[in-house]
Amino acid sequence: MSYSLIAPLYDLVVERPMRESRRTSLAALPTHEQRRVLISGAGTGLDLPLLPELHRYTALDFNPAMLAHAVPRGKHLEVDFVLGDSMDLPFADAQFDHVVLHLIVAVVPEPQRCLAEAVRVLKPGGTILLFDKFLHPHQRAPLRRLFNVITRRFATRMDVVFEEVLGSTPLLHVEYDEPALGSGWFRRIVLRKK
Ligand SMILES: C[S@@+](CC[C@H](N)C(=O)[O-])C[C@H]1O[C@@H](n2cnc3c(N)ncnc32)[C@H](O)[C@@H]1O
Repeated sequence: MSYSLIAPLYDLVVERPMRESRRTSLAALPTHEQRRVLISGAGTGLDLPLLPELHRYTALDFNPAMLAHAVPRGKHLEVDFVLGDSMDLPFADAQFDHVVLHLIVAVVPEPQRCLAEAVRVLKPGGTILLFDKFLHPHQRAPLRRLFNVITRRFATRMDVVFEEVLGSTPLLHVEYDEPALGSGWFRRIVLRKK
């Protein structure tokens, strides 16, 4: 519901400041062999113009208003748009070679379920490309925790500790974890399924 209200303004706020981080994250996709790629929580499709054309994409979001903005952005790609829940993906196990999780793990109420679902639909050896805002273990961040009480109700959580989320999914190996934006508040992470 809240993302229906946010949809018309989302690109204005998010597109430009995040563009380079998205580009860097998506550069981890292969460029020679065709793969199946899931974009979970695709939103208005800001990743779509930055994707290599050779892959087959599935862009999933539970909000029709956000997804409606994404459709024209995917015109140059082979992409299926799917209405669905990132915490309960409507796909069989081991369907995808790569899963893109940009600004979704720290948005949903249960980040562990979101990551576990991405792992379930990923083939062994496949990768998860993650870009999001996280707290570090034991980081106090009192302002973010305070704002979280409000923001978690309509837009995003601000209290998610990545290491705690990762701890719930033993099948993953961290290949890469680097600060992206906001002095390391946002991180770019590559995970591989064992
Ligand atoms: C912050 S936006 C990020 C969108 C996009 N990934 C990006 O990088 O711009 C969060 C998106 O997640 C979607 N979303 C939130 N909870 C979801 C859920 N449980 N299942 C699927 N999509 C969800 C919202 O509708 C919104 O489009």
